[in-house]
Amino acid sequence: MSFVAIRGLEKTYPGGTRAVRGIDLDIAEGEFVVLLGPSGCGKTTTLRMLAGLELPTAGTIELAGREVTHLRPALRDIGFVFQFYGLYPHMTVAENVAFPLECAGVPREERQNRVRYMLERLGLEPLASKYPRTLSGGDQQRVALARAMVRRPALSLMDEPLGTLDAERRAEMAELIRAQQIQQRVTTVYVTHDQEEAMRLADRIVVMSGGEIQQAASPMEVYDSPANRFVAHFVGSPAMNELRGRVEGGRFLCGGADLGPAPASAATGEVLFGVRPEHVSLGEEGHLHGEVLVDEYVGSSRFVYVQTAVGRITARVGAAEPWRPGAAVALKFDGKGVRWFDAATGRRLP
Ligand SMILES: Nc1ncnc2c1ncn2[C@@H]1O[C@H](COP(=O)(O)OP(=O)(O)OP(=O)(O)O)[C@@H](O)[C@H]1O
Ligand SMILES: [Mg+2]
Repeated sequence: MSFVAIRGLEKTYPGGTRAVRGIDLDIAEGEFVVLLGPSGCGKTTTLRMLAGLELPTAGTIELAGREVTHLRPALRDIGFVFQFYGLYPHMTVAENVAFPLECAGVPREERQNRVRYMLERLGLEPLASKYPRTLSGGDQQRVALARAMVRRPALSLMDEPLGTLDAERRAEMAELIRAQQIQQRVTTVYVTHDQEEAMRLADRIVVMSGGEIQQAASPMEVYDSPANRFVAHFVGSPAMNELRGRVEGGRFLCGGADLGPAPASAATGEVLFGVRPEHVSLGEEGHLHGEVLVDEYVGSSRFVYVQTAVGRITARVGAAEPWRPGAAVALKFDGKGVRWFDAATGRRLP
């Protein structure tokens, strides 16, 4: 049995915006699920319905075998970190972090120990007796995280909790959240629009768009076997290359070039050919010819952008060898890395 069961969940706001359009999702106990999607796709709305801060227009939510769809937030045993922290301004950092424990009736000494431990883990001890208004945005965000993680709720909900931190702190905090989650196995639903953060943290990524789930699968599956074009493009940076062409006589033809055999599942007609930059190599011979536009060195590798007659292609190649802009180059696609999509529906072809 699943720990969280979401069935036919919908939310239409009074203004008429259909923010969530029928979500079904099961979450196992101890699972770390990340809702990933572009701005406005309904992530926060979904999370707020889980928290009880927003009532669904239709559908049900079960938590630990109990229907909670219309239950007040306080009765759900949920920990919540908002996109915009919301610390208690009249309490010090230590008091803020202690508050959930106080509400749960944890005895004073244990409370102090747990708060001290949490502040230490997040490097916040020097700020223990400060008030929130005297802290930077990033520090306030860390206090909000400490407050959320000090107690072990049945379900932890986090809405872009690293939003205001700089890149270094983000990576550091993401690691900490993950470590804490592995240790405590708190069932967690975490919202972000950052695909790398999602990959790093999630047991399972739920990719959303337009209020609907596009795919719910492990990070590896979402990256390697995207359910459709939307997922293929949203996950991975730089984006997957895409070529539009036709299948004729079992071959994929694109702008006059024969790029090799098409999948058996593709009927004669238009299809999309997708290949990630790491499955494109550059050389003197290949499937397509073009001209180097930009060579972007990123330390561990290079992204080389090549203009071809059928569109721009990005290749990820070894860092050692630079590519001169303007140089003629041939592109080769590694067949194992090629994914096919139906041109009309965007669905991936098997
Ligand atoms: N209180 C509200 N009243 C009316 N419309 C709302 C309300 N809250 C959100 N919406 C609308 O519902 C849709 C989904 O919003 P939501 O905040 O859930 O998206 P999101 O995925 O969290 O986006 P972001 O990444 O920008 O935080 C958007 O079109 C938004 O404008
Ligand atoms: Mg949001």
